[in-house]
Amino acid sequence: MEKDREKVQKKPVRLIAATCNNMGMGKDGTLPWSLPSEFQYFLNTITRVSRPGNMNLLIWGRLCWNSHPENIFPLANSLHVVLSKTLSSVPDHAHFLCQDFESAVRLAAQPPLSGIIETVWILGGTQVYEDALKHPWCDLLYLTDVMADFDCDVFFPDFDRELFKLQETFPDVPIEIQEENGIRFKCQVFKKKTDDTM
Ligand SMILES: NC(=O)c1ccc[n+]([C@@H]2O[C@H](COP(=O)([O-])OP(=O)(O)OC[C@H]3O[C@@H](n4cnc5c(N)ncnc54)[C@H](OP(=O)(O)O)[C@@H]3O)[C@@H](O)[C@H]2O)c1
Repeated sequence: MEKDREKVQKKPVRLIAATCNNMGMGKDGTLPWSLPSEFQYFLNTITRVSRPGNMNLLIWGRLCWNSHPENIFPLANSLHVVLSKTLSSVPDHAHFLCQDFESAVRLAAQPPLSGIIETVWILGGTQVYEDALKHPWCDLLYLTDVMADFDCDVFFPDFDRELFKLQETFPDVPIEIQEENGIRFKCQVFKKKTDDTM
């Protein structure tokens, strides 16, 4: 038991999502909007590593995984975990299947992956984000504000904006409001207060 604990290497757990005015983020199993440059920002963010050979672990809910076009795979510097209690085998292009959130995070924190994983990225949907917001290793929430109304059937969970503080600027995150297809959006980062900053 003591030996197992020694082997755990804590990894940053970070969420990334885009939400519109009512915190909606999905409709009919897909995104409610078409914002290719925001999607490219998402891909750039989740695949960024600080040195060659390092990887990120990407955690997807089953429906989220299914909603992504196959042509985005393989994604650079990425290992994919799909969460599902009903699937019995790892889906094409994914690397792992887990039945609960903590097992997925632990994959990144223990050998053999702990030596190469930099960041655990949480890609949704709702339940997966809820689990991640509560996780003690969660430190950042990348949340693009899509400044428009869309009809949605899936929503980002409520989160404590006193605990997660909006950053005025953040490395590799554009500061200016952008516009595409007539839709304005702003890339934002919320940082979780630590015991030192509370
Ligand atoms: N705008 C954005 O940034 C954004 C981000 C993410 C998603 N979305 C949108 O949101 C929708 C998909 O999200 P969703 O919330 O409906 O579904 P989802 O979380 O992607 O998938 C739900 C399924 O994932 C599995 N699952 C989730 N949490 C789990 C856990 N803790 N342990 C084990 N299995 C777990 C379960 O699969 P089983 O039923 O197989 O057990 C569950 O039925 C899509 O419309 C997508 O486009 C948008």
